[in-house]
Amino acid sequence: MAFPLHVSNDSHYDADEVSDWLGSGPSPKKVIMKDLFVADLQANQPIATTFLVKSKDVKSKKSGEPYLALILGDRSGELEAKMWDNVEEVEPTFDRDDFIKVKGLVQIFRNRPQLTIHKLRPCRDGEVDFADYFPKTTKDVEVMFEELLGIVDAIETQPLRELLMSLLLDEEFAAQFKQAPAAKSLHHAWLGGLLEHTLSLCKLCRLVVQNYEGINLDLLLTGAVVHDIGKIRELAYTRSFSYTDEGQLLGHMILELEIVNEKIAQIEDFPRDLKVLVQHLIISHHGEYEFGSPKLPMFPEALLLHCLDNLDSKVEAMRMILRTDPNVEGNWTSHNTMFGRPLFKGLKRNGEDPQKSD
Ligand SMILES: [Fe+2]
Ligand SMILES: [Fe+2]
Repeated sequence: MAFPLHVSNDSHYDADEVSDWLGSGPSPKKVIMKDLFVADLQANQPIATTFLVKSKDVKSKKSGEPYLALILGDRSGELEAKMWDNVEEVEPTFDRDDFIKVKGLVQIFRNRPQLTIHKLRPCRDGEVDFADYFPKTTKDVEVMFEELLGIVDAIETQPLRELLMSLLLDEEFAAQFKQAPAAKSLHHAWLGGLLEHTLSLCKLCRLVVQNYEGINLDLLLTGAVVHDIGKIRELAYTRSFSYTDEGQLLGHMILELEIVNEKIAQIEDFPRDLKVLVQHLIISHHGEYEFGSPKLPMFPEALLLHCLDNLDSKVEAMRMILRTDPNVEGNWTSHNTMFGRPLFKGLKRNGEDPQKSD
């Protein structure tokens, strides 16, 4: 998140209908044009805008009175928010995953932006445009999908090409595959992220085989395309990203095994040994027992798939952490739990402001 240390001189809220805050305004409401996003907020800026509630906690002040501790979000990032007064009245009116309209003041607290909410109300149906609230790939989904189809079409091993084509040309599957994030929060955690990650991985596979003789690129690419497709059922992504019940209970490896088995069953004479190799690619791609793989990679294509998946997800995760770090001052992010260390954001890239690396 770019968060310029700019002190706004504007001491007034944007003009806003008073009646808008008095509960039952005229209905039905029009869509609120969201013109202020988390990434654009400035220090000491009074704001009046809408957010998605990503988390909601009621905590106690030293006096014992309740206060609200929220994480609010839109497509550009997340923001901590606190509401100190009027909590008993406001708290029951909304929940996590609801959209709310807030008025408040953005301040810097412990080197991070924090919103103090003065007024809050839930948004009514039809007041928000969903596209404003969910992070989405910056790339063109259809262009990426076409590129992936091209890569699959070039696979020479006929049963593997047939398997992948039967997936990608399945309209219901393709629609979900184009929409799903690749993870809940760690990497490519945006709509279209699964496709973006899959395509990136396929390109890495094509590069790496040039360096190692005898690698079966068709098999490696098949692993790359199917290795995370279970995420279309593991993750819920119509509101804030979370796990579905079956995702929580089974995990994406089991789910994609099921999807792939179903498709293979529809292909006449799909070789049994090839099926076992594809299944091994799927179940070993996390590379370690503690990361959920019941078997560790046992042939070079499986090892490469694991390593390249790890590479693509970690590099993209690090880029995202640097891009969205809320710390206002200094060259370092806070301690990052995924990497187990703070990350350096002071490296200038192509003469850009180091904290605004794309
Ligand atoms: Fe995975
Ligand atoms: Fe992956």
